[in-house]
Amino acid sequence: MLEANYLVIGSGVAGLTFSVKIAEKFPDRTVVIVTKDAEDESNTKYAQGGMAVVQNKEEDSFKKHIDDTLIAGDGLCDEGVVKMVIEEGPQRLKELIQWGANFDEDSTGNLDLGKEGGHSEYRVVHHKDLTGAEVERTLLKRVHQLPNITLLPHHFAIDLITNHQIKGTDESDISCYGAYVLNEKSGEIFTVQANATLLASGGIGCVYGHTTNPVIATGDGVAMAYRAKARIRDMEFVQFHPTALYQRKGESAFLISEAVRGFGAYLRNRKGKRFMLDYDDRAELASRDIVSQSIDAEMKKAGDSHVFLDCTHLDMEGFKTHFPTIYNKCLSLHINVEKDWIPVVPASHYLCGGIEVDKSGKTTIENLFACGECSRTGLHGANRLASNSLLEALVYAHNIFKHHCENEYKKLDVVIPEWNDEGTTIPEEHILIRHSLKSLQALMRDYVGIVRSNKRLKRAITHLDVIYKEVEDLYRESKITASLCELRNMINVSHLIIGQSLERKENKGGYFNKDNVKK
Ligand code: FAD
Ligand code: SIN
Repeated sequence: MLEANYLVIGSGVAGLTFSVKIAEKFPDRTVVIVTKDAEDESNTKYAQGGMAVVQNKEEDSFKKHIDDTLIAGDGLCDEGVVKMVIEEGPQRLKELIQWGANFDEDSTGNLDLGKEGGHSEYRVVHHKDLTGAEVERTLLKRVHQLPNITLLPHHFAIDLITNHQIKGTDESDISCYGAYVLNEKSGEIFTVQANATLLASGGIGCVYGHTTNPVIATGDGVAMAYRAKARIRDMEFVQFHPTALYQRKGESAFLISEAVRGFGAYLRNRKGKRFMLDYDDRAELASRDIVSQSIDAEMKKAGDSHVFLDCTHLDMEGFKTHFPTIYNKCLSLHINVEKDWIPVVPASHYLCGGIEVDKSGKTTIENLFACGECSRTGLHGANRLASNSLLEALVYAHNIFKHHCENEYKKLDVVIPEWNDEGTTIPEEHILIRHSLKSLQALMRDYVGIVRSNKRLKRAITHLDVIYKEVEDLYRESKITASLCELRNMINVSHLIIGQSLERKENKGGYFNKDNVKK
């Protein structure tokens, strides 16, 4: 058993930022970060476009950024949260720069500002097309300088420990006491007991298979919180990024940043028509939900598997400076951006909903906090505005930190039972896990994608039930492995997405059901 003041699950921008702040402020308090892969593996590492923070107050203003966020969120944002996050942005950016993060500058020495879909002004600060990697690098360096942080890579959080596991506690008033954690190298499962636990476990992209997210994005935090009976909201609002690189094979899709469209690229169909002009006055820079739905409609009309992004008219030297990773990735696939159009297709990208939290990041479970993509703060409503996610994670990590400065959490005096795996055996039938995963991803893509219908959603539930029962049996019989837990978590997450989709009777933002009334 490991004891700590704070248990942080996840080492992306959310988990690392909170850990750094709390460990710096309280050198006598201990932080344990468990993270299931290498220490830097996260959605954060792949963030390209940047962070939306109002800079140029002559042309831009908080009000404009707030309005853009509210418009993208399609009436479902919490306006107080939107205002708080956006007004806090410059301070959090300043802090990140003080910690050593480098952001690109223009020729006058000011921060270079990009533009993305749904933004009325240039306000996206960035580090080439590797913004997330720069943020991750900066935070990890800081973490390693703080002796009161223990960072455990390749450690998988299996389940939260709540009253459910502890004899004699009142199950109607749920508290969190830490988590059971699997050391993926040794196979040992141990308890981490903590005064407070932070879920910073990121997104769910892998539920769809075809995703811009890395393989870690399996919704573990949302599933753990759901099983612990925390309130989960807005799961129907899965955001599909309009322009993932189309490749015939492979599920993880390389992202062609929205900033490329901000730089002036056009979307064209196979016939060469710049079709976005038919759908929205903002054309390629309409918000993400509109561009993805328009591409989907265009592909269905023509029976095509993708559309194209045309950069051939752009200043190529500027393109290579801003987007070196994208340029080189395309070149490695024999796509010369100077002459060739890039084949693109929407892919699942971001979860707008998640574990409900208040402005201090508190979930509905005592001593349990959530931050970053796994949380539902009310900032994004029905559709996140591009580059608002890193910002949200930084602001909420700070708010949770502030909350802990004002409130000390005592370790709850309970006896936590050890993980019990009596009667379980090592799963030999890995094919069962792989097959169930493929079936799950196929049903989510086919029935719960950009365009949904009541019939498809109901069919999805029926098929999901079968997979659920098979996997629960396997889980009960087997010694725990990370891949089995991930599959179980993705099933929980899919159940939430489908269930909450069926509950939504009106199309909003990124949610479109053919049987619902039009907006
Ligand atoms: P993550 O960065 O995903 O970190 C989650 C962590 O939790 C990981 O370390 C993971 O290994 C760990 N974890 C998960 N489950 C467990 C478990 N069971 N046990 C232990 N550890 C676990 N947003 C922007 O604002 N601007 C952008 O330009 C931008 N570009 C993007 C480009 C791409 C390709 C992608 C995929 C996303 C992009 N986003 C962008 C979204 C943004 O990157 C993410 O929403 C944000 O980084 C999430 O941060 P996080 O800390 O919440 O989660
Ligand atoms: C991108 O660079 O297109 C991703 C931005 C985001 O998801 O916010």
